[in-house]
Amino acid sequence: MTYTTVIVEQHDAVTLVRLNRPQALNALNSEVLGELIQLFAAYDADASQRCLVLTGSEKAFAAGADIKEMQPKDFSAMYVENFFAGWERVTNTRKPWIAAVAGYALGGGCELAMMSDFILAADTAKFGQPEIKLGVAPGMGGSQRLTRAVGKAKAMEMCLTGRMMDAAEAERASLVSRVVPAAELVDEALKVAAQIAAMPPLAALACKEMVNAAFETGLQQGVVFERRLFHALNATADKVEGMTAFVDKRPGNWTGR
Ligand code: HXC
Repeated sequence: MTYTTVIVEQHDAVTLVRLNRPQALNALNSEVLGELIQLFAAYDADASQRCLVLTGSEKAFAAGADIKEMQPKDFSAMYVENFFAGWERVTNTRKPWIAAVAGYALGGGCELAMMSDFILAADTAKFGQPEIKLGVAPGMGGSQRLTRAVGKAKAMEMCLTGRMMDAAEAERASLVSRVVPAAELVDEALKVAAQIAAMPPLAALACKEMVNAAFETGLQQGVVFERRLFHALNATADKVEGMTAFVDKRPGNWTGR
């Protein structure tokens, strides 16, 4: 598959995707969305790939949805096209993926990063939902995911003022898992992704489903869902292998079965 708005590399079992529209600070237009939909579907379908890292440039992860593309569209056009609905394919990715963010992650860029399983941030990262300054509001899940991540006060302030959060604040507020020096961001993300890629893949899918359930269900329902998935994992060959390997004091050899 050849792409024009992203650069894709494979590092063993890890797919590295770089957003590549430098002339527009990686603004997310329909072409980028179309390519991300294709590549996330290809990633989910490729058993050799077990973790994915999505990153941008040093200056910008993505400076938002493409304002120049949205400018001429009125309500009818947006509604008929169900503009932004395609992003659900990205959020429905079943296998783990990490957003490695340096520089601006604004508007749709912040929302795309928040669609990932977790965000690893460079010390240069800046997160914001500045849509209000354009007469609109978040449209790719930002008002929901940011609020769940950082709570009402910070989310509301950011959406109402467009204020950016720097990397240190984002880490304090639990928007990102960790902050690393910008020069080390991609290497560190690849290292973490390789660790995830080396885990038993069914257990990784289950961890992802369980943690996501915490966002979408109540506590009691979430705990039952977790327990059932835990029970189900006991039917896998990798469970037998994992526990046998522990007892035998050797590393596990996973088959994904
Ligand atoms: C289209 C964009 C863009 C965007 C930057 N560019 N952001 N193009 N859509 N979101 C383009 C600029 O037009 C410019 O191209 C080039 O990228 C470089 O940007 P500059 O502004 O010259 O860079 P700089 O001065 O360094 O400022 C960086 C910046 C600023 C602070 C990130 O670009 C900025 O404020 N961008 C918009 C951020 C934003 O509002 N994002 C939210 C979008 S709405 P040219 O060719 O002009 O030189 C959204 C969701 C909407 O994401 C959901 C509701 C419908």
